[in-house]
Amino acid sequence: MTDTQRPAAGTQALTLVEPTVTLRDAFLDMAEDYRLHGGGDIDGAFELFPHDFPGYIRQLLGNSYIRDSRGARVPATTYWLFRPGDGMLLGVSRLRHHLTPALKHEGGHIGYSIRPSERRKGHGKRILELTLEKARDFGIHEVLVTCDTANTGSARIIQTNGGVFENEVISERTRNPVSRYWITLS
Ligand SMILES: CC(C)(COP(=O)(O)OP(=O)(O)OC[C@H]1O[C@@H](n2cnc3c(N)ncnc32)[C@H](O)[C@@H]1OP(=O)(O)O)[C@@H](O)C(=O)NCCC(=O)NCCS
Repeated sequence: MTDTQRPAAGTQALTLVEPTVTLRDAFLDMAEDYRLHGGGDIDGAFELFPHDFPGYIRQLLGNSYIRDSRGARVPATTYWLFRPGDGMLLGVSRLRHHLTPALKHEGGHIGYSIRPSERRKGHGKRILELTLEKARDFGIHEVLVTCDTANTGSARIIQTNGGVFENEVISERTRNPVSRYWITLS
């Protein structure tokens, strides 16, 4: 990794944790941030919130899959970006364990989001970097990461993490241009 690719100072201590009921208050605080400022939910990560929190966690851990944009079922693992210093949750990522045709077209292996009040501090670069380490643990070595072409912040995050641009496609869901990048993990 070169100096320009290195995560911003202060982001190194961050860690990914799997969803747990013990972080309920931190999760509710993050969800409130999204509710107030809007934008950036991943695969409906906050859909069941806050009515049945233990049930939500059970669903994320036990029956862990998402539906892709064509309705196919894909195993997936959700991670929360955790800052040990103050116990704050800063974002969410989701690793889809394999690509369906729809994910290969536009969704990719990894989705990520940083809570609105903590954006532009390097956390986006860090959450993708840490989720790529999880992908490697799952034996995924060619990782597809995509973003709306207009999402310049996300494109920077992917490029910083070694993404090699393959092409641009039109989203079947939104009709927006989507950029597709591959990241090779050693
Ligand atoms: C996209 C997103 C993850 C960026 O998170 P972040 O923590 O602000 O990103 P970072 O601080 O690591 O910034 C990465 C780079 O993008 C740039 N950037 C971030 N947001 C930007 C924006 N809105 N406009 C232009 N550039 C932006 C940063 O300046 C930085 O650039 P640099 O490499 O030149 O230093 C965040 O805005 C978000 O959660 N958006 C909603 C969900 C989403 O779009 N997810 C990605 C698609 S899966």
